[in-house]
Amino acid sequence: MVDLTVIQNYYRSISSSPSHYISYLNVFLAIFSVYLMYRIVFPPTSPNGQVLNAQQQAKQNPQPVVYTKFTPTTLQPFNGIVEERVLMAVKGKVYDVSAGRSFYGPGGPYSNFAGRDASRGLAKGSFDEEMLTPIDGPMDTLQDLNADEIQALNDWEQHFAGKYLLCGELVEQL
Ligand code: HEM
Repeated sequence: MVDLTVIQNYYRSISSSPSHYISYLNVFLAIFSVYLMYRIVFPPTSPNGQVLNAQQQAKQNPQPVVYTKFTPTTLQPFNGIVEERVLMAVKGKVYDVSAGRSFYGPGGPYSNFAGRDASRGLAKGSFDEEMLTPIDGPMDTLQDLNADEIQALNDWEQHFAGKYLLCGELVEQL
């Protein structure tokens, strides 16, 4: 039979000494190491089994993204006020910029772009009201942009493509 007093004395001794904390630390470290090894052996993957980096994992957030065609009128409510999501069009592509709400959401420095075609403003480096194409008029063809402005717009397009989810396209009418 096991002598219980031996065990009691043992627990008393470790709970009143620094080794008590060290043994808890060891248990924690052991569990954490097992978790890390599991993550190394089974890294997070996309549905097709491809290993994802951090940005791709963030992009692959739980919200399903339905690729949608927007007109200037149907895009407009996505300004963070009428609709919670913030969408923005760049060169005919619609990005979900909700993650950049501090930029484009209500009160943000670029809130003018929310729910709108931001191409002209990005090309010309201006977030002024007159950069925005009237909702009820024809879509901006951007034909008058000079080479520098086209370059600036293309650079911005890359920025948006790399940072935000592409969620649709902007068309004249559905
Ligand atoms: C007054 C001069 C300006 C200042 C001080 C300024 C400042 C900034 C800063 C600090 C950022 C964040 C950079 C980052 O952390 O990635 C930023 C991003 C940005 N700025 Fe400006 N900016 C100015 C003018 C403009 C203008 C005129 C435009 C119009 C096209 C503009 C459009 C943007 C856009 C689209 C972003 C990217 C936001 C994102 O990543 O979603 N900025 N700006």
